[in-house]
Amino acid sequence: MNNNKIKIGIAGLGTVGSGVINLLEKNKAEILKRSGFEISIVCVSASSKSKKRNCNIEGLNFYTNPLEMIRNESIDILIELIGGELVAKELVIEALEKKIHIVTANKALIALHGNEISEISNKEGCDVAYEASVAGAVPIIKVIRESLNANEIEWIAGIINGTTNYILTEMLKSKKDFNDVLKDAQDLGYAEADPAFDVGGIDAAHKLTILSSICFGIPLNFEAIYIEGIEDIELDDLNYAKELGYAIKHLAIGRKNNDGIELRVHSCLIPKARLIANVDGVKNAVVVSSDAAGPTLYYGAGAGSLATASSVVSDIIDISRKILSKSNNSVPLLSYQRNELQNKKILDINEIESRYYLRIRVKNKPGVLADITKIFGRKSISIESILQKEDLVNDENVPIVLVTHEVIEKNIIDALKDIEKLEVVKGKIIKIRIEELES
Ligand code: HSE
Repeated sequence: MNNNKIKIGIAGLGTVGSGVINLLEKNKAEILKRSGFEISIVCVSASSKSKKRNCNIEGLNFYTNPLEMIRNESIDILIELIGGELVAKELVIEALEKKIHIVTANKALIALHGNEISEISNKEGCDVAYEASVAGAVPIIKVIRESLNANEIEWIAGIINGTTNYILTEMLKSKKDFNDVLKDAQDLGYAEADPAFDVGGIDAAHKLTILSSICFGIPLNFEAIYIEGIEDIELDDLNYAKELGYAIKHLAIGRKNNDGIELRVHSCLIPKARLIANVDGVKNAVVVSSDAAGPTLYYGAGAGSLATASSVVSDIIDISRKILSKSNNSVPLLSYQRNELQNKKILDINEIESRYYLRIRVKNKPGVLADITKIFGRKSISIESILQKEDLVNDENVPIVLVTHEVIEKNIIDALKDIEKLEVVKGKIIKIRIEELES
């Protein structure tokens, strides 16, 4: 390594990998002016050299096997952009053991193997930076680990999957159905290789695993997260929510309360007056509520080639500064000193308290509402508002839309089980939690 040059290798030349190559080229002079050093890509790896891609790899040493790349090349930083879990994990661990620093955009890797990777990086004295793994261009990792590090964080709530946000937004806007809109999102390159990860909430849960660890000082614990996708949300719910003054958003929520920590990913009704309720399309946004700073909101592109590359390159610059200044003083990988990470009680979803939006399809005849409200009464569930909607297609059955006061989830689940058994109730009841997101 010469004094003002950092050598990097890039594993993976998909959307983000090509974005990193293009951004380093496009803003070469600007980056040099800001950082004072040059970042030189010496090698890349991808499954095929001849594949048509949107970046120039001429003159770079090319490998089809990323392990071979790190064994043959002398680099300071490996940029892991392969995605997925297993190959990436083997590669990152071997690179750390060779004292190569890591920059990654891989949320699954950090969420599922970050505890082990943190231990190895600590032992080897190398950095692992992962800004691009959550919310693309939005610098939320840096904000939590650095800008808000004087605060105790109370709760965090984010729209951190662009695909689901795009689907919910487009369904309401264009009145298209779920599958058509998902197809558009895939064509636009937002969705994961397996879109079930997006619509089923897994991608958001990987990201919440990371955010909750750095917010609350707990080890990464993907298994503890309660996950629901957006599959049950219908256009009717989006319309009724709007009529009630809410937007439906798929949120990742982490909240510290007296009994433990809530970690959950699911759709919510959010009052339209909240800024985050107006974040539409593929955009991401995260609200962090902390004791000194109060609520702060971060918003921007959650995916995309140059947008995600912006976070990757920023991590490269941070690590390069540390290498060049020969400093050992890094921000801890998971924000807290390693010996300060503590397993805390994660609340079961049954224990949380919320208000609920419920849509119940019932037979249109006298006495039905009385039967339903009797069951709510038995479970101490108080109803805040109730509306019976017209069904223009079939007036034998009609939807009833109810909003409850705050209640423990277990009571709602028990009540809905009993209500679904009533002869007059048709099909599954739609239940969506309501989040006020007040500090
Ligand atoms: N599939 C992800 C999303 C891409 O839709 O947000 C960025 O992680």
